[in-house]
Amino acid sequence: MKGIILAGGKGSRLFPVTTGVSKQLLPVYDKPMVYYPLSVLMQAKIKDILLISTPHDLDQYKRLLGDGSQWGINLSYLKQDQPNGLAEAFIIGESFIKDDPICLVLGDNIFHGPSFSKYLKDAIHQSTRNQKATIFGVKVKDPQRYGVIKFDKNGDALKIEEKPDLPKSDFAVAGLYFYPNSVIEISKKIKPSKRGELEISSVNQIYLNELKLHVEKLGSGFTWLDTGTHESLLEASQFIQTIEKRQGIKVGCLEEIAFENKWISKETVIKNANLLKHTDYGEFLIKKYLNVGD
Ligand code: TTP
Repeated sequence: MKGIILAGGKGSRLFPVTTGVSKQLLPVYDKPMVYYPLSVLMQAKIKDILLISTPHDLDQYKRLLGDGSQWGINLSYLKQDQPNGLAEAFIIGESFIKDDPICLVLGDNIFHGPSFSKYLKDAIHQSTRNQKATIFGVKVKDPQRYGVIKFDKNGDALKIEEKPDLPKSDFAVAGLYFYPNSVIEISKKIKPSKRGELEISSVNQIYLNELKLHVEKLGSGFTWLDTGTHESLLEASQFIQTIEKRQGIKVGCLEEIAFENKWISKETVIKNANLLKHTDYGEFLIKKYLNVGD
């Protein structure tokens, strides 16, 4: 299983903030936004990760994240010349994906909640063993901003509609998708939508038509945030600040996940932490890991 983070796009709803800076480099409280989706792939135990961004923003991502060895992962980078849609990720990433199944996470999505590791494990199982795709449905107040899932009376998914004027349910498709390798060929076959994008909803609809789409509903205790507007970005920062302070945890802490996965040693955690020692993030790591037995 390989992973792709899609961190391009225009970010036009955040202008003028994103006129000079890529959205996914903006801070969400105490760390860059892209840390959160990267932490999702690492929680899924995916080590080979491709980051796709615009030609002019890629260098900044490379400066921030490097080759990933500080977290025991392999990071590579490719450009998307124009924001032609989410499904283009699989076409751009074809030579990286090779024959593997693939997980795509959007660079501006944050996931936090109980049983997340189990959801991820099940989704990987579906794409590797059953050749089925998995998408995650979350109940939201404003479904028309997203891909929306229509269900039948038995609760089975019937249709996925991208940003519908009249949503058929309150369940939006979150920006985390697992696919078998066939997603590359499917993405090459779909046609751009009216707004000129290769829509991920078109890909999902094909898997649904072939009875190869698993829709996992994330429970009400689960938090899914996207950070695409000024208000949602501020709310995401406040949410992270509140739970980190209240629960004494760090969300999206890459060293913590890498250590738990046994990808890096305690010494590497402390080395990374020392570079951040004037911050809460660095202090959190030093306090948690300095005296841990190897
Ligand atoms: P969007 O939020 O749909 O688009 P955007 O980030 O360009 O923002 P805006 O609508 O305000 O102009 O994109 C979701 C995520 O996917 C985000 O992380 C950017 C990324 N993306 C790409 O990398 N390439 C693309 O072609 C598209 C459409 C999005």
